[in-house]
Amino acid sequence: MSWPGVIKAYRPYLDVANVEPVTLQEGNTPLIPTPRLAHALGLPYCDLRIKYEGLNPTGSFKDRGMTAAITQALADGARSVICASTGNTAASAAAYAARAGLKCVVLIPQGKVAAGKLAGAIAYGAQVISIQGSFDDGLRLVREISMNSQIMLVNSINPYRLQGQKSAAFEICDELGNAPDWLCLPVGNAGNITAYWMGFTQYNAIGKAQNLPRLLGVQAAGAAPLVLGYPIEKPETIATAIRIGRPARGEEALIAAQDSKGRILSVTDDEILAAWKMLAEIEGIWVEPASAAGVAGLRKAATQNPHAYANKTIVCVLTGHGLKDPTTVMERAPVPLEIPAELDALQKAITG
Ligand code: F0G
Repeated sequence: MSWPGVIKAYRPYLDVANVEPVTLQEGNTPLIPTPRLAHALGLPYCDLRIKYEGLNPTGSFKDRGMTAAITQALADGARSVICASTGNTAASAAAYAARAGLKCVVLIPQGKVAAGKLAGAIAYGAQVISIQGSFDDGLRLVREISMNSQIMLVNSINPYRLQGQKSAAFEICDELGNAPDWLCLPVGNAGNITAYWMGFTQYNAIGKAQNLPRLLGVQAAGAAPLVLGYPIEKPETIATAIRIGRPARGEEALIAAQDSKGRILSVTDDEILAAWKMLAEIEGIWVEPASAAGVAGLRKAATQNPHAYANKTIVCVLTGHGLKDPTTVMERAPVPLEIPAELDALQKAITG
């Protein structure tokens, strides 16, 4: 039987309207063992795995939450949906709204959305509005407008988003037979870390996992309100997906990190780019920069406190595909060597 999407796969555990789901058969993403990366991070005896969420239908983990939010919106009689987004939520909302026959409006921070995400939102037929402000400004606006109109908000403030996103925790436990020792992931608006913790604690409570993971949430240094303890008015990072200064679910993320005996830390853009390059060049896994934050955070935390990570089962969640953001690669790429179409020239050109 083919994979039916996360709602049908986990229906008894998800609080979503009991109707035919709006799905693109999201979820069921691979949990890839990455021993070469473990070695390179100085964790040779760890069972390090990558939950490759970039392989969801629109290229990010957002599809897990969007199937639930759009299914519920349709069941509740909505005609249109809206979100603010650093890009992935926009593309996902646009795709699922298209499939449900709903109008979709997305607000994006001007000039700060990676090309593949913007192209996706446009391709799926959303109305894209670029605001002269940050993601946080956009979120304030969509909250206000959805309170006073029929348009349904599908940011992760919407509880159904978290219901869907919990499914990633279930998949990890089902595959490992238990929860990992550590789960490392990037944190922006803090919906995903909150959803993972809900999923792991739920699975533990019903006896489907015997343990709980420690959560390592990772923010970019220029956008690290949860590490610094106050909102950031002008967040800045190359990891535009997590360029967020006022996370809507920040409180819950801090509680999840604390309850799990984990932590939230920050990494610099250089550390993010180093991890991003390692993933692609050592394991053949190309992600968008924000997605590498979890790996960068693991690297930093394991350097500070090797004992906590040695010999452990560690899952890093890679939230979005590299194709979302080709610009970050091309801006750093050397100009390709140009040669005449002759064997002799080719032999001379190949290095190493
Ligand atoms: N990784 C990627 C690739 C993202 O797009 C996001 C969030 C995150 C991590 C962080 O997840 O917000 O649940 O803590 N992107 C949102 C968006 C904000 O609009 O696409 P979070």
